[in-house]
Amino acid sequence: MKHKKSLDANEILELIFTFLTELSSLRNYDDIIRVLADMGRALTGADRCTIWVVSDDKKKIWAKVAHGMDEIELDIHSGIVGNAIMNNQKIIIDDVYSDNRFNPDVDKITGYVTKSMMVIPMSDNDNRIIGAFQVINHKNEQSIFDKRDMERLMLASTYAAETLVAAKLTKEIEDTQKEVVFTMGAIGESRSKETGNHVKRVAEYSKILALACGLSFEDAELLKDASPMHDIGKVAIPDSILNKPGRFDAQERLIMDTHAELGYGMIKNSDRPLLKAASIVAYEHHEKWDGTGYPRKLSGENIHIYGRITALADVFDALGSDRIYKKAWDDERIFALFKEERGKHFDPDLIDLFFDNLDKFLKIREKLKDEF
Ligand code: C2E
Ligand code: SIN
Ligand code: SIN
Ligand code: SIN
Ligand code: FE
Ligand code: FE
Repeated sequence: MKHKKSLDANEILELIFTFLTELSSLRNYDDIIRVLADMGRALTGADRCTIWVVSDDKKKIWAKVAHGMDEIELDIHSGIVGNAIMNNQKIIIDDVYSDNRFNPDVDKITGYVTKSMMVIPMSDNDNRIIGAFQVINHKNEQSIFDKRDMERLMLASTYAAETLVAAKLTKEIEDTQKEVVFTMGAIGESRSKETGNHVKRVAEYSKILALACGLSFEDAELLKDASPMHDIGKVAIPDSILNKPGRFDAQERLIMDTHAELGYGMIKNSDRPLLKAASIVAYEHHEKWDGTGYPRKLSGENIHIYGRITALADVFDALGSDRIYKKAWDDERIFALFKEERGKHFDPDLIDLFFDNLDKFLKIREKLKDEF
């Protein structure tokens, strides 16, 4: 078999440009790492490329070493990669098993046999080392890396480092957002004397229904993260109404019903996917399939699937819990109401999926039950 001739300068630039274009369209940290690894592999002719990232506490390095595998974490002082990072040193080795710095743990986990290896540390703008490019097993005849491979990888590594820093920031912002959303949701609930576990359960129930009705894993996760916000508008409802020990009169009811639109108004202006989803959930979680809900009296599939799902999850949890205005219902009564409201309050398909997946709901309820 003829080996591919090595790349010339133009081809290398073209390769880098192609990858940069792809990278610029990506938002997800894992996707970015995967594309950076593809780029490192293409540039050097390696069989594998792994992006190692230094942990926040600077004690570990972690990577996704193989597709479909969980992250792997090594002590930052361990192995050839750790060595390259600790000493800020590029390393080329022809046969790692004859190098006493090599840590064979990763090979043991992946079942892959490493022979040659090249590692280039990556630093951010302040010259702090944030990780390393590691390529393994050159696909040429000698199966070893040379200086030219190193130069090529270095070309890419500065850009890779910048991309990683930016991606990490984005990820941190997103994580922070999730936390803010969750906390705000929990505050809304705690003011109304519901427990923090209510929003957690509604989140998990929503995800089960989302997956069961065929939404993608990403959308199901998004809904899970957004649904704790469904009652965020309750923060604007006066205590005297929110925490009234008994049933509402008509006037109180009208005021309470504004919590859906109020919640929507609080977050509708964000373009972030998470807050967009949260605003839909806040707006539509009290709409009913037959058009008798509030605030807009939407019906059927005009109610966003996120709204239909959260409606069911919220009511299931509300009925099964003590509220300041009512005692918890027993399961038989809840199931009877769900059957009665199939196609009235609730999307009939979702009710069917609820009963099909009842064991999962009950497991979540048991796991996240309220402690007193
Ligand atoms: P929540 O307590 O979280 O209840 C959410 C939804 O679960 C309710 O939306 C309703 O669809 C259902 N649900 C809860 N308890 C019952 C019940 O005993 N019977 C029936 N058939 N359905 C129930 P809804 O009605 O739009 O209420 C929204 C929120 O308004 C409630 O959230 C609660 O915070 C408050 N609320 C509603 N009615 C009263 C009331 O009479 N007194 C007080 N203090 N708060 C109320
Ligand atoms: C090492 O750096 O020595 C081990 C890491 C690896 O084999 O991927
Ligand atoms: C509610 O207002 O929470 C539901 C009304 C009912 O108990 O039927
Ligand atoms: C659907 O499953 O009904 C479509 C999703 C949506 O409501 O936007
Ligand atoms: Fe609500
Ligand atoms: Fe709720």
